[in-house]
Amino acid sequence: MPSRRTIARRLEGVADFREPSADLEQYLTPPEVAAHICHFASLQGDLAGDTVVDLGTGTGMLAIGAGLCDGDRVVGIDTDPDALALARRNEQSVLTGHSVDGVSNEESMVRTPLEWVRGDVTRPPLSVTDATVLSNPPFGAQRGNRHADRDFLETTRSIAATSYTIHNEGSQEFVESYADDAGGSVTHAFRATFSLDNRLEFHTDESRTLEAEVFRIEWDSGDRQ
Ligand SMILES: C[S@@+](CC[C@H](N)C(=O)[O-])C[C@H]1O[C@@H](n2cnc3c(N)ncnc32)[C@H](O)[C@@H]1O
Repeated sequence: MPSRRTIARRLEGVADFREPSADLEQYLTPPEVAAHICHFASLQGDLAGDTVVDLGTGTGMLAIGAGLCDGDRVVGIDTDPDALALARRNEQSVLTGHSVDGVSNEESMVRTPLEWVRGDVTRPPLSVTDATVLSNPPFGAQRGNRHADRDFLETTRSIAATSYTIHNEGSQEFVESYADDAGGSVTHAFRATFSLDNRLEFHTDESRTLEAEVFRIEWDSGDRQ
């Protein structure tokens, strides 16, 4: 597996949404954050040999990161066909990108063929079990989109053995109690800083920094519905 730094540099080649939808809370997961999650997940043994599912894949950032980290089967799901077309283009451009840090493209390219699936995450079109889910879900910040993070967690627990999900600051109690009620447990948590530009209607400042929290959860298969 390439180093975390090399993965982050590769992921810098992932193009951002051209016309992000505020309703769908479309913004790019920063390359360093995606690299941190994918590299860590790979070290934990959560990528190789498992189906990796990126719920709300958007630009494909986390799915492509998993592909760079030796995920065997990686599926990105999003409800927006334009996002999926962008994710496909990003897969191609990261695949054919130039050498980074002296690591040849051959060594650091996405080896895994990625699958892109259109679907509503709250009604998952996949019959997958024991997956590793990677997800930067909508935080539920928009009217009509409230509790989106809970809906994404609900789907996550129905298909995952292990998950890495990104939440807004102050979510630890909610995530831990959700996992606990659903027969899961949070094994790791860390903070991540997002720098967002002001292209979405719900952002009021020029740009803003968002403190986010990432949780690794192990789900008990006996509690799945
Ligand atoms: C915060 S963005 C994820 C960004 C992504 N990780 C990236 O770096 O591009 C949330 C994504 O969830 C998608 N989304 C929102 N609601 C959805 C739903 N019900 N089903 C599937 N995808 C959804 C949006 O289209 C958006 O791409």
